[in-house]
Amino acid sequence: MASYLSPQLRRLLGYLRPYALRFGLGIILVAFVALAEGAVALMIKLAVDFVLNPAATSSRLPIGTIPWNGRVLYLNDYFPARIHNVWTVFTFTLIILFLAKALAEYIGTTSIQYSGLAAVTDLRNQVYARIIRQPIGFFQHNPTGRLISTAINDVERARFALSEWLADLFQKSFTLVVFLAVLVGINWKMALGCALLLPPVAWPINKYGRKIRRSAENSQTRLGDLSQILQETVSGNRVVKAFGMEQFEIRKFREAGKKLLHENMRWVRAAVITGPLMDLLGAIAIPLLLLYARQQIHLRVMTEGQFFAFLYAMFNAYMPLKRIGYIYQQLQAVTGISGQVFSYLDLPEEKIEQPGGTPLAPFSEEIVFEKVGFCYDGDSGNVLEDIHFRARRGEVIALVGSSGAGKTTLVNLLPRFHEPTFGVIRIDGVDIRGVSIKSLREQIAMVAQENILFHDTVWNNICYGLTNVSKNKVIAAAKAALADEFIEEMAAGYNTVIGERGTRLSGGQRQRIAIARAILKDSPILILDEATSELDAESEMFVQKALANLMVGRTTFVIAHRLGTIRRADKILVLEGGQIRESGTHTELIARGGTYARLHDLQFADDDMLAPAVPADSNAASDSL
Ligand SMILES: Nc1ncnc2c1ncn2[C@@H]1O[C@H](COP(=O)(O)OP(=O)(O)OP(=O)(O)O)[C@@H](O)[C@H]1O
Ligand SMILES: [Mg+2]
Repeated sequence: MASYLSPQLRRLLGYLRPYALRFGLGIILVAFVALAEGAVALMIKLAVDFVLNPAATSSRLPIGTIPWNGRVLYLNDYFPARIHNVWTVFTFTLIILFLAKALAEYIGTTSIQYSGLAAVTDLRNQVYARIIRQPIGFFQHNPTGRLISTAINDVERARFALSEWLADLFQKSFTLVVFLAVLVGINWKMALGCALLLPPVAWPINKYGRKIRRSAENSQTRLGDLSQILQETVSGNRVVKAFGMEQFEIRKFREAGKKLLHENMRWVRAAVITGPLMDLLGAIAIPLLLLYARQQIHLRVMTEGQFFAFLYAMFNAYMPLKRIGYIYQQLQAVTGISGQVFSYLDLPEEKIEQPGGTPLAPFSEEIVFEKVGFCYDGDSGNVLEDIHFRARRGEVIALVGSSGAGKTTLVNLLPRFHEPTFGVIRIDGVDIRGVSIKSLREQIAMVAQENILFHDTVWNNICYGLTNVSKNKVIAAAKAALADEFIEEMAAGYNTVIGERGTRLSGGQRQRIAIARAILKDSPILILDEATSELDAESEMFVQKALANLMVGRTTFVIAHRLGTIRRADKILVLEGGQIRESGTHTELIARGGTYARLHDLQFADDDMLAPAVPADSNAASDSL
């Protein structure tokens, strides 16, 4: 049996280990149910031969003979002497038998199913924890929809295997064993003859098993495609509508659905063949049995009653056999599917706590980039080259440059979202590759280019990652980010749920909540990537003031396209094609008359040129500086 279990299946079953006790209890009870079913056959015999039969002379009901000493066991022995009526003994036994069977079936099946469900819960939690701990690069390579599909759909299929099918498999196996024993007991030669017909059926079942495995894996990938389309077009629904692409997306979804249907049918066809194949076996077996039995009965070696008893037991053994074949095919499918789940589990986690990674001491002096270079994938060109600068504590470092110059990439190296390909980044002289990521990220607050808020209350979004924050502090942070006013105006104030990724807020409001979050985190290093780009000029000025207060004593990296916001920076780095072209203060760079000066002139000239062209509505204010 063990050799029929694929490594994946064995690994899946391994998740049952913590629940072994309950699972074991379940199996024992289910085995008892099978025995009870066998006993029902015996009860039928007793009913016919003793209870119904007016000619029966004995009031004792024989239930069997002990093989080694030939002693006959009677049901009556288990009842008090007062009860001797055949009908009473029979009735009580029947009721007790069925009660016990019902109880054992209920407790046994729920125990096995509980073990399976609990095991799958553990598996799902592990998959989630593993995915969440992957480095940023993983999420840029694996579509969200696929990840969701694996964590939900694939794991759900594993649930079926571990709970329902497993419970069923054990129950049917025991029933099979009991009725096989009955068959052998009645006539072992006929039983053996029937068994000879099994291999020709088992062979194709096994052969199809392999096909099912592969096909089931493909079908889960297709399901992942569907979930990917759904995820993208629901969250990006505004774009779909704006470009009138509903029909296109519906067609794309239908195409993917059709592919899934084809793939599903491939393995369904292979899986369902088991039943009909086995029925065919029955059709061959019965005429042969009849032929043999006719001769045996003729020779008076067998009675008609024995032949019917044999047929009865054969059908009862056949049903579980058919079911076991079906479950075997389903388990093959699960084997194919669980491959993806385990491949995620086998990924190395982001090294939050590296072996030997020391915690980073509180930041006190300077951050140094030493000849840092970076490329995203091995083969593509360098996004950053030879980045060399230092930022002292309390300084504001501004990064300027055209879109795609590498500004976001550069600041993402600091919290180690990516590791530099060349060079070293040091904080207070310590190479950040050697410190634990947790201690590093604790010292960095970030307002990113696209602000991710969660489907939760405003309050929880501001406090994200922090525990035990006083109410006053949260409100003070919101006030400093100029968010307090609009939050108070919302229906439930700070308890308003802001929708998935904050879609119920305006861009500027989202940004201010993200700023409040960064202010509250109160870290010595602050990264602002286009943090104020969505604010109107007036709010931006206020937020700038709030940020200016926040920046005191902190090292801040500011990325801004609007040069007005970075005039007061201690150092401006002009990035072009991944390299630092110029660096200095605003005055120095203007005096130098290089790229920065050109950008500066261009921007203000642009604004002058555009101003009359912009319609005189409220947006005008936010477009000019
Ligand atoms: N995950 C990624 N994988 C591969 N290349 C990437 C990835 N992210 C960014 N890039 C590339 O790296 C370069 C720099 O991107 P980056 O986001 O750092 O630019 P940026 O200066 O922040 O631009 P912007 O001002 O538009 O935000 C771009 O050419 C971009 O195509
Ligand atoms: Mg950027």
